[in-house]
Amino acid sequence: MTYIFAHRGSSKDCPENTMAAFKKAYQDGADGIELDVQLSKDGIPVIIHDEKLDRTTNKKGNVFSYAYNELTKADAGSWFSKTFAGEPVPSLQELLEWIAPLPMLLNIELKNNIIEYDGLEEKVLQLLRHYGMEERTVISSFNHYSLVKIRKMNSYIETAPLYSSGLFEPWEYVKAVCSQSAHPHYKSLHPYIMEGFKQNNIPVRPYTVNSPKWMSYFFEWGTQAIITDYPIHAKEVYSGKSP
Ligand code: G3P
Ligand code: MG
Repeated sequence: MTYIFAHRGSSKDCPENTMAAFKKAYQDGADGIELDVQLSKDGIPVIIHDEKLDRTTNKKGNVFSYAYNELTKADAGSWFSKTFAGEPVPSLQELLEWIAPLPMLLNIELKNNIIEYDGLEEKVLQLLRHYGMEERTVISSFNHYSLVKIRKMNSYIETAPLYSSGLFEPWEYVKAVCSQSAHPHYKSLHPYIMEGFKQNNIPVRPYTVNSPKWMSYFFEWGTQAIITDYPIHAKEVYSGKSP
């Protein structure tokens, strides 16, 4: 079985990293969702991809310059389509409240490779514990120091380094950063790399797999999951129907 994670929610059909996109992913039958977390000025974990608000909201400047109550007033939907006007930037707490009762997996990406947020790891772990989500969450990041920090604070939650390409024996690297699985860019996964992960029993969840050709490649390898903007298409490819 290969799980299908909706990248920033069902981000093909809805504005990325909004509750609308996450709810659509659930309706689409995705097994899990991937989302990006940063901290507001007052230290609240919020869900947004870019370090700046400019691309996906009607506000400008750094996420860390805005208090949480200001971010809730930002419109994170209109840039995508008028239909989503007024869709707010969600907090991680709001997302967890929604997902906890649902049979869904979660991938929290700590978006702290460019800006390091003091206390981000602790806050995310605390919320996951509070909502009983530790067993079905994997924490990933391009900041691998952050993954080692997580492991020092929590001995069992699954973590995964994100990387784009070029690591030598990445299954060894996964262990070196105290992680259990890998989230590589899909194009880096040549057959000999897939074979190495397989031999070492390291689950792989490539990002961002949007073409039927690459979806089929990973389904044939029996990859543990794929991360995609198109969960509906991925399900069609998985069940043998072309999208
Ligand atoms: O977690 C997979 C993927 O989201 C990593 O890249 O830039 O889309 O957050 P990005
Ligand atoms: Mg991400």
